[in-house]
Amino acid sequence: MKIQEITIDRLDPAAFIDHQAKEISDRVGEGLAVNALSGGVDSSVVTALGHKALGRRLKTYFIDSGIMRKDEPRQIAEAFRAVGIPIEVVDAKDRFFAALKGLKDPEEKREAITQTFYKDVFGDLVKKSGAGYLLQGTIFTDVEETVAGVKRQHNILSQLGIDTKEQFGYEVIEPLIQLRKPGVRKVGEALGLPYEMYNRPPFPGPGLAARIIGEVTPERTALVREATAIVEEELAGTGAFQYLAILHEDRVTGIRNGRRDYGYQIEVRCWESRDAKVATPTNLGFDVLQRLASRMTTEVPGVVSVTYNITSKPTSTIEAV
Ligand code: XMP
Repeated sequence: MKIQEITIDRLDPAAFIDHQAKEISDRVGEGLAVNALSGGVDSSVVTALGHKALGRRLKTYFIDSGIMRKDEPRQIAEAFRAVGIPIEVVDAKDRFFAALKGLKDPEEKREAITQTFYKDVFGDLVKKSGAGYLLQGTIFTDVEETVAGVKRQHNILSQLGIDTKEQFGYEVIEPLIQLRKPGVRKVGEALGLPYEMYNRPPFPGPGLAARIIGEVTPERTALVREATAIVEEELAGTGAFQYLAILHEDRVTGIRNGRRDYGYQIEVRCWESRDAKVATPTNLGFDVLQRLASRMTTEVPGVVSVTYNITSKPTSTIEAV
C-alpha cells in the first residue's frame, strides 16, 4: 500500500491526534499493546500518543541495548515518569552485543539489530505480557530511505515484505508514518510533551551502532559514547539539526607524551537540515573545532586524531553506517 505523506502545511496536529488515537484504540480493542521508547523524538511522540489512546493498556519499555547514549536509560525513564507515563527498563545489552559480534558490514549490523530487537527482545516481552500489538514511531523518511535502497532503517518491516504477525507473533501499528520530523515535533507539542522532548536532535534507532565503522563491541561503543557526549555538550548551542561523533575502523599513528601512539580516529559531523532528506555541514568556527579536538584527544582514551566531515548529504548520509 502506498503511504500518503502529510506535509507540514496540511497537518492539523489536534485533528491528527484525535484521528490516530481513535484508530489505535479501535485496532487494539480490548487487547494490550507494547511500545519501545528510545528517547528519540519519534518514539517519545508515539509513546505519548499511545498512552492517550490506550492508557494502561499500553506498556512502554526502554530497551537498554548497550548502544544508547551516556546515562540515557535512566534520564529517559525519569523524564517520562515525570509526565505520568511509567516506563520499564529492560536490560538487553548482552543479547545485542552477542548478535553484533564479528559483524562489520553496515547492512548486516542493521539486520542483526532488527532481529534482536523485534524477534528476541520484543518477541519475549510480547509473550510475557500477552500483548498483540507493537506501537512504533516509524516516519515517512525512514520508509523512503529503505525503499530507495539507501539504508535499511531498523524499524522498516512491512515495506520490506515482513509479516510481523507470522515472524514475530504481533502486529505493528505505525501512527506517524505519514509525517516527517517537523510534523512529528508539531504533534509532540500538541500532545503537551515538554519542549526538550519533542525538540531533541534526532537519534537513530540502531543507536551508537550507526556511528561505529567496523565491529560493534562494548569497548568500541564506550569510546563513541564518550565522544558523543562531548559533541553534544559542545554543539548543543549551535541549533544545528543533528551533531554526532563517528569512530573509524582504521587506526593511525599518533604521538602521546613524546612516544608513538597507534590510536583511534574520531570524525565529527554537524548537520543543517529540515527533515534529514538532504543536509549540509554546519559552518562551525575553527575555535569550536579545535576545542572538540582537544577534548576528544584528552578525554576519550586512545583517540589521537579528530576530523570534521565537510560533505553534504548526498553524497554523505547523516550517520556513517
Ligand atoms: P541517514 O544516515 O540515513 O539518516 O542520512 C537520516 C536520519 O535518520 C536517522 N536514522 C535512523 N533512524 N532508524 C531510525 O529510527 C534507523 O535505522 C536510522 N538510521 C538513520 C538519522 O539519525 C538521521 O536523522
